[in-house]
Amino acid sequence: MDGNGRWAASRGLSRSAGHRQGAQAVRRTVEAAPELDISTLTLFAFSADNWQRPPSEVGSLMFLLQKYLDNESRRMVENGVRLNVIGRRDRLQPAIARAIARTEEATAEGTGLLLRVAIDYSARQAIAAASQLPPRQDADPAEDFVRRLDRVTHALAGTPAVDLVIRTSGEQRVSDFLLWESAYAEFLFLPVLWPDFDRHHLEAAVADFRGRNRRFGRLQALAS
Ligand code: IPE
Ligand code: MG
Repeated sequence: MDGNGRWAASRGLSRSAGHRQGAQAVRRTVEAAPELDISTLTLFAFSADNWQRPPSEVGSLMFLLQKYLDNESRRMVENGVRLNVIGRRDRLQPAIARAIARTEEATAEGTGLLLRVAIDYSARQAIAAASQLPPRQDADPAEDFVRRLDRVTHALAGTPAVDLVIRTSGEQRVSDFLLWESAYAEFLFLPVLWPDFDRHHLEAAVADFRGRNRRFGRLQALAS
């Protein structure tokens, strides 16, 4: 989710107005995803490096996050959405951490869409932390590493690897997002600013993805 600030600036609005509009795009995307046969959606909401933004900006993002969780919890349950927040939790305000735990618990039975929201997330920090957990001796090293990675990021065990990464706002970089999990992801960089992102963009992205020839290092594409 990138481009909230530029969306607001181009209209003479405050950055927090851009983030509010971005929250509408989240709602639209969460509703559209299952209709497009997307079973897992991960949104990069707040990176570990975003703490370096001014306190007022961090405050408005955290406020919006809490409001989103409180307001959308019932709708998520009704729509079969299961929430999983990935990232660190020890630096979040206790009220936010509680809202996350509450919403994860309330939505735990959802099977329509796994909605993962990355908050205080850094893939490199997660990889470094996972590497310090003790490995299981007789396990496959890569599988065991994923288990440890999931543990440090609070990710649900068994979440599949990333198929498609969409970055909005014209930036073409990874910015410390799901580095291990997106090893074989397809990438799509769109000029659209996140607050303008809608189901048509998502539909076109899925169509683009379906047209890609994924070989995973082999000579021929795997039958899907
Ligand atoms: C996305 O919009 C919000 C976050 C992920 C924190 P930005 O705040 O990055 O918006 P720009 O890049 O300034 O337009
Ligand atoms: Mg940005």
